[in-house]
Amino acid sequence: MQIRGGVHDYTVVIGGGLLDEIGDHARKYARCKKCAVISDSNVTPLFADRVKKSLTSAGFRPMLITIPAGEKSKTVQEAGAICDQMIAAGLDRQSFVVGLGGGMIGDISGFVAAIYHRGIPHIQIPTTLLAMVDSSIGGKTGVDTRDAKNLIGTFHQPSLVIDDIDVLKTLPRRQFNQGFAEIIKHAVIADAKMFQMLQSWKGATPALQRLIKRNIHIKSRIVAKDEHDRTGQRALLNFGHTVGHAIERAGNYRKFLHGEAVSLGIAAACAISVKRAGLPPDQGAAIVDLLRRFGLPTRLPHKFPRKKILDAVSFDKKFEGGKVRFVVTPRIGTAYLADNVTADDMHEAVDAL
Ligand SMILES: NC(=O)c1ccc[n+]([C@@H]2O[C@H](COP(=O)([O-])OP(=O)(O)OC[C@H]3O[C@@H](n4cnc5c(N)ncnc54)[C@H](O)[C@@H]3O)[C@@H](O)[C@H]2O)c1
Ligand SMILES: [Zn+2]
Repeated sequence: MQIRGGVHDYTVVIGGGLLDEIGDHARKYARCKKCAVISDSNVTPLFADRVKKSLTSAGFRPMLITIPAGEKSKTVQEAGAICDQMIAAGLDRQSFVVGLGGGMIGDISGFVAAIYHRGIPHIQIPTTLLAMVDSSIGGKTGVDTRDAKNLIGTFHQPSLVIDDIDVLKTLPRRQFNQGFAEIIKHAVIADAKMFQMLQSWKGATPALQRLIKRNIHIKSRIVAKDEHDRTGQRALLNFGHTVGHAIERAGNYRKFLHGEAVSLGIAAACAISVKRAGLPPDQGAAIVDLLRRFGLPTRLPHKFPRKKILDAVSFDKKFEGGKVRFVVTPRIGTAYLADNVTADDMHEAVDAL
C-alpha cells in the first residue's frame, strides 16, 4: 500500500514470510551496497540472520548493530555510538539504515538515519504489533533524555516499511496485547465500524493482516493532514496519552508497558469525555469493556501513587505554556481537541481509576 508521507510517498508491504524478501524490496529504494541493520538483543537472535541473508543475496553488504533491548537504550549516547560504528564501517551518504525491532528500535534507527550525513534512507521492519500499527508510520523519530521521553528527535519518513506478520508469533502475549491499546484508540477516534469489528474479534491471521492495514490507513490519513504536529489534527492520536504518559512516568516506566498505560489513559479520557464532551455513558462503558477484552488494564492497583500521576501530567508536552489541550471523544468514531478540560477533571478521572 502507498502512504502519503509529506514530501515523498512510501510503500508499506504487509504479508507473511517477508523477512526473506527484504533484499528484493530494498533494491528498489537503495542506491548503495552498504547498509546498517539496527536491532536489539531480543530481536537479533530471532530474525537478524534471515534479514542479513536476504540483503546479501540481493547484492547488499549489511553490517549488523545490536543494542541492548529495552527503552533504556533509546538515548542520544546510544545513537552516537551507532553512528560511530557506521562511520568506522565506511557507510556514506548513499548508504541506508534498516531498523529491525519494536518501536524502540524504530525510533532510534530512524533518528540515526535522519542525522547520519544529514539524512539517509530508513527502512523499517517493525516486529511488534504496536510498531506495525503505530510507531513505524508517521515519521516521528527520536530518543529519550534523562528526564523525559522522546524530547529529542526529528521528522524523518521511512522509505519503506515491511510488516511480516509471522514475526508476531514470538511476541510475548503482554506485548501483543499492548498493541491493541493503540488499535482501540484508532477505532475510538476515527473508525466506529472497526470498533464494532473488534467487539467480536476472533484473532484469525487473515483478519489480523487486514486489521493492521486498516490501522496504518487511519494513522497515515491523520498524519498526512498535519505531518509536523502543528495544526492539532495529529494531536488526535494522543487520545488517552495525556494521562497514559503520566501513568508511565509515575510507574518509572517499569510498572506498565506503554500500551497498558495508554489503556488506563483511555479509560480516564472516556470519563472526561462523558463529563465534558457529551459521550453517552454506555459508549464510555463499551470502550472500557473492549480494552478489558484484550487483557488491558482499566483500573490502577489500589496502592498506585495517584498523586505522582497528577505531578507527572505537568511534565507532558501537551501542556505547553500551561494551556490544557485534551483529546476527547463525543461518540465512538470521532474525537476533537478540547479546551474546557480542567485539572480538576483530570484529578477526578485519575482518582476513579
Ligand atoms: N515514533 C512514533 O510515532 C511512536 C509511536 C508510539 C510509540 N513509539 C515508541 O515505541 C516504543 C514502544 O514500542 P514497543 O512496544 O514496540 O517497544 P520495544 O521496541 O521496546 O519492544 C518491546 C519488547 O519486545 C521485544 N520484541 C520486539 N519484537 C519481538 C518479537 N517479534 N518477538 C519477541 N520479542 C520481541 C523487544 O526486544 C522488547 O523487549 C517506545 O519507545 C515509544 O516511545 C513511537
Ligand atoms: Zn502510544
